[in-house]
Amino acid sequence: MEPILDVTVEVHSHLSATDERTLAEDVLDGLTRPLKELPPKHLYDARGSELFDGICELPEYYQTRTERLILQTHADDIVERTGAVELVELGSGSATKTRVLLDAMAAAGTLQRYVPVDVSATTVHAVAELFADEYPDMSVYGLVADFERHLEHLPAPAGPRLVPFLGGTIGNLPPGTRRRFLRSLAPMLGADGHLLLGTDLVKDPRVIEAAYDDSAGVTAQFNLNVLHVLNRELGADFEVDAFEHVAFFDRQREWIEMRLRSMKPQHVRIDALDLELDFAAREELRTEISAKFTPQRLRADLAAAGLELVEIFTDPDELFAVSLARVA
Ligand code: AVJ
Repeated sequence: MEPILDVTVEVHSHLSATDERTLAEDVLDGLTRPLKELPPKHLYDARGSELFDGICELPEYYQTRTERLILQTHADDIVERTGAVELVELGSGSATKTRVLLDAMAAAGTLQRYVPVDVSATTVHAVAELFADEYPDMSVYGLVADFERHLEHLPAPAGPRLVPFLGGTIGNLPPGTRRRFLRSLAPMLGADGHLLLGTDLVKDPRVIEAAYDDSAGVTAQFNLNVLHVLNRELGADFEVDAFEHVAFFDRQREWIEMRLRSMKPQHVRIDALDLELDFAAREELRTEISAKFTPQRLRADLAAAGLELVEIFTDPDELFAVSLARVA
């Protein structure tokens, strides 16, 4: 347990060394499957995070600015309807979106506590200090933990709780994992808490595909960067230029997939794993799925997790949704 920093900010740690699967384990597991795949979290090294920030500014990538607009438009309404006194943030959210919600709570006079939860102690300390300074009347309880596993370590609610899970991140989870994750949220929401879930919406596949294959090629670089991560971290010898970026919308499953396609037959060695791999010409490696939702799918997924959809907030073009849900 970390020391208490001062009266309004305390940070507690519940992470053990065995909690997170390592890159090496994910690579050994994913690249030896009949259909090669890697979990999307390894896209986000320093360079990958920088490229992702670039993606959020692209004309084709409507999600970030649309979600921000929806939040700005409806934050007061959301706070009024939920009566939220505390904000529990799962994963390092974007400071801009957090501020929109904290500002609305402060303006309503309900703001009591901010509870950031993240696997990175550095991140938890940084956001705890940042927001404690900006909102001096609120207390901060930081939790260093894997929010897919350790939600039972959250403090008891200070009152009605608001739990944003924004950015469309839920879409990266395959359907079964998604349901399990949503179900794990119900106990921590309590009887009067609300989940605020950001999801991309099903729309013209051309619009979705353009968002994941932009004309400036930033998403292609973001995708290909994962091979640099493997080369650097695991002593692999991927010839990055011999792979191409692929993004396609699967209409049946209603998700977009990013893949890397080998443009020729290739042999790859990964020193750290003592692993030899072959890629056939045009063989693909899946690096991400990103699910798109309809209102029906949202309602059904929430219901399967014991949650009830209260309201879907969207933009005039119905590109993106921010949904309010509570325990059914
Ligand atoms: C951050 C996971 C929501 O799925 O749209 C952006 C990541 N991938 N472009 C998404 C991403 C390709 C993004 N999420």
